[in-house]
Amino acid sequence: MKHHVKDLDLAPSGRLRMEWAEREMPVLRQIRERFAAEQPLKGVRLSACLHVTTETGNLARVLQAGGADLVLVASNPLSTQDDVAAALVTYDEIPVYAIKGEDNATYYAHIHAALDHKPHMTMDDGADLVGTMHKSRRDALDTIIGGTEETTTGVIRLRAMAKEGALEYPIIAVNDALTKHLFDNRYGTGQSTLDGIIRATNVLIAGKTVVVGGYGWCSRGIAMRAKGLGGNVIVTEVDPLKALEAVMDGFRVMPMLEAAPIGDIFVTSTGDINVVDTQHFAAMKDGAIVCNSGHFNVELNLPGLAEMAVGAPRRIRPFVEQYVLPDGRHINILGEGRLVNLAAAEGHPSAVMDMSFANQALCAEYMLAHAGKLEHAVYAVPEAIDQAIAQLKLAAMGVEIDVLSEAQKHYLASWQEGT
Ligand code: ADE
Repeated sequence: MKHHVKDLDLAPSGRLRMEWAEREMPVLRQIRERFAAEQPLKGVRLSACLHVTTETGNLARVLQAGGADLVLVASNPLSTQDDVAAALVTYDEIPVYAIKGEDNATYYAHIHAALDHKPHMTMDDGADLVGTMHKSRRDALDTIIGGTEETTTGVIRLRAMAKEGALEYPIIAVNDALTKHLFDNRYGTGQSTLDGIIRATNVLIAGKTVVVGGYGWCSRGIAMRAKGLGGNVIVTEVDPLKALEAVMDGFRVMPMLEAAPIGDIFVTSTGDINVVDTQHFAAMKDGAIVCNSGHFNVELNLPGLAEMAVGAPRRIRPFVEQYVLPDGRHINILGEGRLVNLAAAEGHPSAVMDMSFANQALCAEYMLAHAGKLEHAVYAVPEAIDQAIAQLKLAAMGVEIDVLSEAQKHYLASWQEGT
């Protein structure tokens, strides 16, 4: 079996860490049992381009249990957990192409390996797999039935493709399920981003001024957790409604250029380019720490910073690169500007990935069941799937909720009763 991973000797550690993660993934475990019995993905060639983590490892085993013939490649050059990649190859015989720190050429060679699989289905995180297929590997479109997309950035790209009429098959936007973005984007990104910053730097957050770029679901999770650790949080936004929410949630809101000289730590999670640009770097304090938790590293203008800086950056700690400006100020960039939560920590905790990946598994099943019946468009996750996942998660957490009485149902369905 072909594969490209760092070191197969790492497999035992990967297996143990996957087992640990699975304890927190009860919904996915239940789906795995049903998939093993019913084989809903039998014979389906599935190419997945995801962050290769312990949680993804567990998802891969669920898809395989459901009968899928799976290839897994990295969705980011810095997010792979090499021991998990080794475990999946060694114990599950899943071809994995992913190495932490792979260069861009290797990253795309791995995406091509996923397309060589001639998939019936794609499972993407950031839409690099789908984008490459539509741009330069159109041969792989021959066999395709449908796909799923994990993240906000990917969904934005796919919607742009659909709008231009360029999208050649149906894709379900897993990100937009409530059981995905309300939990994974907010609590997952919130916790794992602070975890990444702390692991990379070991700085005390209490008393620091933390500037958060954006106030979407990911950014608001970051702002909430930075505040919880005692940071003085400033939010920057371009959307008046989101800015207003941030103000009323108790955060200071101002343009990035005003925040630049005040901030100690900067984190972006907006999905757009140059959120921290050269004029912002130029205004920062000596020792500023700058990182990104959005899908792509373009949120920080690093080529611009490299041009402004004197000499090459110095790696002062793992995942910390120090640039020196002409007047001697230091700017510290974490994880090469890539997702700091996956580059310097382990990504979102398993308990939220449980719901995200339950959506992936159930949407893959749904897509196959509806093969040939969907347009070449971006679809929402069916509400029934979202509701079922919420119910299973609550049950697994031992939380019971009330049920509407007949009188309450009747009241909600009627309009005659007033004050
Ligand atoms: N994206 C963010 N966190 C992740 C994780 N733990 N596994 C896979 N994808 C992720």
